[in-house]
Amino acid sequence: MDGNGRWAQRQGLPRNEGHRRGVDNVERVVKAARDQQVRHLTLYAFSVENWKRPKLEIEALMRLLEGFLKDQRKVLHENQIRLRVLGRWRDLPKRVVKLLEQTIAETEQYTDWNLNLALNYGSRTEVVDAFQSYARAALAGEEDPEKADWAAVARHLYSRDIPDPDFVIRTSGECRISNFLLLQSAYAEYYFTPVCWPEFDENRFAEAVDSYRRRERRYGLTGEQIREQEAPLSGV
Ligand code: IPE
Ligand code: MG
Repeated sequence: MDGNGRWAQRQGLPRNEGHRRGVDNVERVVKAARDQQVRHLTLYAFSVENWKRPKLEIEALMRLLEGFLKDQRKVLHENQIRLRVLGRWRDLPKRVVKLLEQTIAETEQYTDWNLNLALNYGSRTEVVDAFQSYARAALAGEEDPEKADWAAVARHLYSRDIPDPDFVIRTSGECRISNFLLLQSAYAEYYFTPVCWPEFDENRFAEAVDSYRRRERRYGLTGEQIREQEAPLSGV
């Protein structure tokens, strides 16, 4: 969800107003994902690198996150959406952690629709945490390093119970991945758009998903082999 700051600056508004409008847009896109039959929507909301931003901006972002979580509790229930969080989210401010814990527990029973927030997330941090988790499990005799395969590694990632993303969208014109779901995106389709996040509304989202649905994914196979199968959209 990139480009809140630039969007605001272009309108002559403070950066934090861009973040506020970005949060409004999250609500639109969460609804749009459901309308588009996207069962998993993962939003990169705060990276491990974002702590380097000015203190006041971080505080504003945390307040917005808190407000968003309070507002969304009802919406998640109404739409039967399960919340999950990826990242070192327990290091966020206490009030935010508490709200996240409550919302995660309260929405656990929903299975069809999933909102995943990447918070205090970075792919390399995820690998480090997975290494630790795997090593502990190995010492406890729960993993056998001799039999390590991708499935064993994936059991220790934050995304252990979330499918790999089929489609990754980055807004604001930047054509880079910035430490987002690097391993899980091994076969993902990418979509880069110059539109800044506050303006990437339900129509833009629908356009993007449309473009995904027109693509042919091959996973190393030939076009003929692939056309005999059908690849459903499970995560964005
Ligand atoms: C994305 O917008 C929001 C967060 C990372 C929290 P930016 O704040 O990165 O906006 P730009 O990139 O400065 O325009
Ligand atoms: Mg940015």
